[in-house]
Amino acid sequence: MSVRQSLSVRQEVKKLLEANRDKSLSGQEIADKLGVTRAAVWKAVNVLKQEGYEIEAVNNLGYRLREESDILSAEGIGLKLEEKYRQNPIFVYKKIDSTNQEVKRKALEGAEEGLVVLAEEQTAGKGRRGRSFYSPSGCGIYMSILFRPTKEQTKDVVLVTTAASVAVCRAIRGVLNEEPEIKWVNDVCLRGKKICGILTEAVSDFESGQIDLVVVGIGINYAVPEQGYPEQLRDTVGAVCNDGEKIPRNVLAAAVLNELFALYDSLSDKKYIEDYRRWSNVIGKEIRFTSDDGWVDAHAVDICDDGGLLVELKNGDREILHTGEITLRVY
Ligand code: BTN
Repeated sequence: MSVRQSLSVRQEVKKLLEANRDKSLSGQEIADKLGVTRAAVWKAVNVLKQEGYEIEAVNNLGYRLREESDILSAEGIGLKLEEKYRQNPIFVYKKIDSTNQEVKRKALEGAEEGLVVLAEEQTAGKGRRGRSFYSPSGCGIYMSILFRPTKEQTKDVVLVTTAASVAVCRAIRGVLNEEPEIKWVNDVCLRGKKICGILTEAVSDFESGQIDLVVVGIGINYAVPEQGYPEQLRDTVGAVCNDGEKIPRNVLAAAVLNELFALYDSLSDKKYIEDYRRWSNVIGKEIRFTSDDGWVDAHAVDICDDGGLLVELKNGDREILHTGEITLRVY
């Protein structure tokens, strides 16, 4: 686990190597920059190697993080965060039950808004509607963020899930230069397959009705696991990476965080809904949704400002679908 407070030599070396991926740094150069001995740098590099960092030691040139080296770290993400978010605490775990659960535990201990928890692997990753979220090691960005809405923010905080799907889309467009799609409510798809799911959980004060905390959990399938996806996911689930150039996960994670923090600050103006509409793969399509009476056929007309889906039924009646409890099929 790594924490962004005062950094150890190992963390400082990691940060320098992450920031200089395109060149080698000599042991002496690193030592001078950090004000430590070459022996301390050598020791730190060895510990990082043991942690799985692929560090090349090029003769006479020094150390360099190999391009393939892709380990989630607070230092790597912090480097790419906008200045104003750099103080947000980031915790990265090798393995955890669920990053959403960990954020809730930390929130109960008093953690502040803006805290981020990531994991290389989740043993009990949670999906929507009580489902599990497949979270194998090293293949994803499993990340949860803590928000503590003020009284004024409470009325708009339900929008944070749709805002998060827009944040992921903006990050993907920015980092990969590809156009994703949003499948209502908040699945992000790329090249026709789901690459990201979002689960928002809230804890409220029973007496006052005030929302104490909101945890936004984002699960991005970054690379296809070596053994492939389990049978039941194979047709629908895909990964961000294809055969082309691989963008370090830290870069994508930071891009999502930059977008999400910015959107959270302006949720009430609902401007991001325009982007949501643009990326929606539902508008204008024939759909089928579940109701108490079974499947209902409808035409998806628009996305409302609150993220609801406006549909027209076969008899011409219009309805707004809100609940996350319906199943939607798009034709
Ligand atoms: C879904 O598609 O059903 C939502 C999946 C949300 C998964 C993410 S991964 C990070 C965070 N921690 C969890 O346990 N779940 C969310």
